[in-house]
Amino acid sequence: MSLLKQSIFLSLLLLSSSFAQHPADLIIPKPQSIQNLQGEFSLNTQTAYCSDSLLANNALNYLQSHLKQSSRYTLQKGSCGGDNTIRFEYAQGKFPKQEAYRLHIESRSVTITAGDEAGFFYGIISMMQLMDAAIWQTTSLPNAPRSWLLPACLIEDYPRFEWRGMMLDSARNFFEVSYIKKFIDRMAQYKLNRFHWHLSDDEGWRIEITHYPLLTQIGAKRGDGTKLPYSAFPTMKGARRGVESGYYTQQEIREIVAYAKARSIEILPEIDLPAHSKAAVTAYPDLLLDPLDTSEFRSVQQISDNTINPALQSSYIFIDQVISELARLFPFGYIHIGGDEIPKGAWQKSPAVAKLIQKEGLKSLNDVKGYFFERVDEILAKHHRTMIAWEEASQAEAKLRKETRFMAWKSPKSGEKLVQKSRQVIMTPVQYLYFDQQYITDKKEPGHTWSSPVSTQKVYSFGSVANSPYLKGVQASLWSERLFSEKIADYMVWPRALALSEIAWSDKKRLDWEDFKIRAYTYGIERLKVQKINFRKSNRSD
Ligand code: ACM
Repeated sequence: MSLLKQSIFLSLLLLSSSFAQHPADLIIPKPQSIQNLQGEFSLNTQTAYCSDSLLANNALNYLQSHLKQSSRYTLQKGSCGGDNTIRFEYAQGKFPKQEAYRLHIESRSVTITAGDEAGFFYGIISMMQLMDAAIWQTTSLPNAPRSWLLPACLIEDYPRFEWRGMMLDSARNFFEVSYIKKFIDRMAQYKLNRFHWHLSDDEGWRIEITHYPLLTQIGAKRGDGTKLPYSAFPTMKGARRGVESGYYTQQEIREIVAYAKARSIEILPEIDLPAHSKAAVTAYPDLLLDPLDTSEFRSVQQISDNTINPALQSSYIFIDQVISELARLFPFGYIHIGGDEIPKGAWQKSPAVAKLIQKEGLKSLNDVKGYFFERVDEILAKHHRTMIAWEEASQAEAKLRKETRFMAWKSPKSGEKLVQKSRQVIMTPVQYLYFDQQYITDKKEPGHTWSSPVSTQKVYSFGSVANSPYLKGVQASLWSERLFSEKIADYMVWPRALALSEIAWSDKKRLDWEDFKIRAYTYGIERLKVQKINFRKSNRSD
């Protein structure tokens, strides 16, 4: 089909949708099973709700806040037997999978059945996707609908993967709390459930640690006149040489964690260790660097001395304290400790490391890295947390607990190798799921070019990854060196995240690019427009 014909076809499809919506055309990610029924349910000012479980509260509150925003009313509590009612029914043990739900829309009532909080939430998300896109609006419009028609249907649904993630790098460029909330909310709308938050790197330390105030006093500022003058890319504030600063206070972190929890999202905090630590070692050189170390090296990003020394007791005391504050702030059972890209040459001329090698009977610097990850794992265990790390840490895998999860980023193959060793893996391969890469190779496109372009179709194609009990899920990663505004960040994510959502949730055998493309480029895009998200406009596969 020519581009013109394709856009006429898509516009007609969209127009006709206002009259006869086919439920299967509307929902992203595609449900596991959907059956069209006769009739429609009208949600209006007279509609009531009833619920037999506190587990439905997040779902109910989410619907109520959107109704209030769009139509300026909320549902009143009613009896479960009545007509014109939305019922939340708890069904313990009825579903074979976690996060599952059943959504039954009949002309007289809607029933959402689930066995856990996430299931209720996803039932509501699917229901809202069946409503006019105006339900997603972020500012009240004067002519917003007062009543909403929902096509009758029966949906039975559950996720393919337990881990459906997105990573945002707040270190290279700092994102305000308001943007972090938007990012999380938009993930929830597409049943993504793990927000991986990259909170430290060479260019910045972005989380308040009360025991080490210099981490943010020194480590959260870069540019001229600061101690972190390094800046390979301009900062979000625009000027290449301007001062860029920002960090999240512990109070803000608590607020964001609660905001995510209300949307069935767990937050995975990442402190990148031992490399990518220029901000930390600049703030606390006496604790984290061997003063006699004369090694000269640069990271792949050309940064010198960005690595914490693994032979100092003070390094582990520092890490222990940081992990203890993280564990208090983030209830999720996992903490990401980085582990990627330890520069060649680091520690080579550190007398402290030479001594450690001798004392511990280590054979090489590779063994030193293994020693470091093992010690960090012990610290995590003490704080009742499990390690997640970039795939490089897997060289020490034999010594790390079996619940440890590795994020495979270099290629799908590196992840598959770990799966074959019966190690738990989350796939975020750069060739398919790095959202910092350009969509297509074009000088005018924002984004990195150091890997290959990642089109929306390329993202979708990763749904063919083989299932395994050790493959815990998939994640898109959004590094921020080139994210010079929130608008650019939006552009890099949307519509690629629609494809991510579907490959993370829908069973492999239900994936169909042609079918997805119609849903994504009609209703999907319509929802993005209503929310004023700066998505990349294209009717094509890129
Ligand atoms: C990475 O891209 N260095 C994990």
